[in-house]
Amino acid sequence: MTETPGQRVLSGMRPTGPLHLGHYYGVLKNWLELQERHECFFFVADWHALTTEYENPVELAEHARGIVVDWLAVGLNPSACRIFLQSWVPEHAELQLLLAMITPLGWLERVPSYKDQQRQLVNRDLLTYGFLGYPLLQAADILIYKAALVPVGEDQAAHVELAREFARRFNHLYGREAGFVEKTLAAAEKLGKRNQGLYLELRRRFQEKGDTEALERARELVRRRQNITIGNRERLLGYLEGGGRTILVEPRALLNKTARLPGLDGRKMSKSLNNTISLREEPGEVRRKLLTMATDPARVHRSDPGDPDKCPVWPLHQVCSDEETRAWVREGCRSAAIGCVDCKKKLLTTLQSELKPIRERALQYDKEPEMVDRVLREGTAAAREAARKNIQEVRAAMGLRRR
Ligand code: TRP
Ligand code: SF4
Repeated sequence: MTETPGQRVLSGMRPTGPLHLGHYYGVLKNWLELQERHECFFFVADWHALTTEYENPVELAEHARGIVVDWLAVGLNPSACRIFLQSWVPEHAELQLLLAMITPLGWLERVPSYKDQQRQLVNRDLLTYGFLGYPLLQAADILIYKAALVPVGEDQAAHVELAREFARRFNHLYGREAGFVEKTLAAAEKLGKRNQGLYLELRRRFQEKGDTEALERARELVRRRQNITIGNRERLLGYLEGGGRTILVEPRALLNKTARLPGLDGRKMSKSLNNTISLREEPGEVRRKLLTMATDPARVHRSDPGDPDKCPVWPLHQVCSDEETRAWVREGCRSAAIGCVDCKKKLLTTLQSELKPIRERALQYDKEPEMVDRVLREGTAAAREAARKNIQEVRAAMGLRRR
C-alpha cells in the first residue's frame, strides 16, 4: 500500500498495565519506524480504558505514566512525535459529542467488538452508553487530527473503517455549500495551468474509471500546495470524489506487520491471561518464564521431532532471531537434532540483550517523573493546537458560533 512521507499518523493504546513483548514486537517497533518518516501522534487512551475499567479507576493514572515510560524506554522520541494523554485534550470529547448527533445506533451496535467484549468480559456490566460509544470516541480521536494513517492490529480494523464512514457522512451533511463547483473550479485555476490540467485529468480518471491511484495522485497534488487557503483545499479534495468540501479526512488503517504473539501458554499474549513477559521483566524471570514456556506438544522426549508451526516459542524466534538461527531451529526441531532447551536458550540470549537497555532506560525514567510529565505536557500542548484548529472548522460547519 502506498504511504507518502510526512503523512499524519495517529494511534493510541489503553493503559491497562505494563507493556509486554506482544506490544513491543507487534506495535511499538512499527511506531518507531513511523516516527522517522511521518508526523506522528501517539496517545494514552485513558478514556477508552474507563469504558471497561470504570469500577477501578485508581490505577489508571499510574498505568498511564507507566506506559509513557515504556514508550520512551523503547525509543519513542518526543522531539520526533507527539506523546500525549487523551483526557487532556477535551476536543476529542467535543467531537465525539458532535458526531453522536449523526450516529445511527445501528452503526455502533453492529461493530463486532461490541458484542464480543460483552461476552468475554462477563464480570463487568458493559451495557453502558460509554461502552457503546467506544468506536465513536475512537473515530473522534482519529478525525480530530485529520489523520491519514492509523497503525492498528487486525482487531481494530473495523473501528478505523467506521471512522471512514463518519468522515463521509459528516462531509456529506456539512460539506455542501452554494456555488461549490464554481468555487472549486476557480480554486483549480489557482493551481497554475499545468497542475490545473493534471488535477482535472486525474479526477476524470477516477470518476470515469474508478482509478484509485489517480485519486491518490490528485490528492497529493492538492496537499503539496502550500499557498492555497484551507477552504479551497477542502473544496479541491472534496470535488475529486463528488459531493462537497472535505472537512473530515478519511483515514486508512495500517495493519501491524506482525501477527499477535502467543503467550507463555500458547494462547495470545495478554495481561488478562497472565501469560506475558513484560518489557521490564527481571532477567531471572525472563529466563524462568521462557524455559518453562509451552512447546510443540508432540515433543514429549528429546528424540521426538517437532514442528515449529505448532510451537508458541517459534513466533518469538520469528520476530527476534536472525535468519541463520531461524533456519537452525526449523531444521533442528523437525529432525530432533536440537532439544527445546537448546532452542529456548538461543532465543533467551537474544531476548535478554534486546530487553536489557529497555529495562535500564525504564528504571531511569521512573526516577524522573518530572521529565515524563514534561513530555506529556508538551506533547499534549502540541496535539491540542492541532485539535483546536480542526474543532473550530467542525463547529462552524455544523452552524455553531465560533468562540
Ligand atoms: N481501541 C484501541 C485499542 O484498544 C486504542 C485506541 C483508542 C486507538 N483510540 C484510538 C487506536 C485511535 C488507534 C486510533 O487498541
Ligand atoms: Fe518449539 Fe524450539 Fe522445541 Fe521446536 S525445538 S518445539 S521450535 S521450542
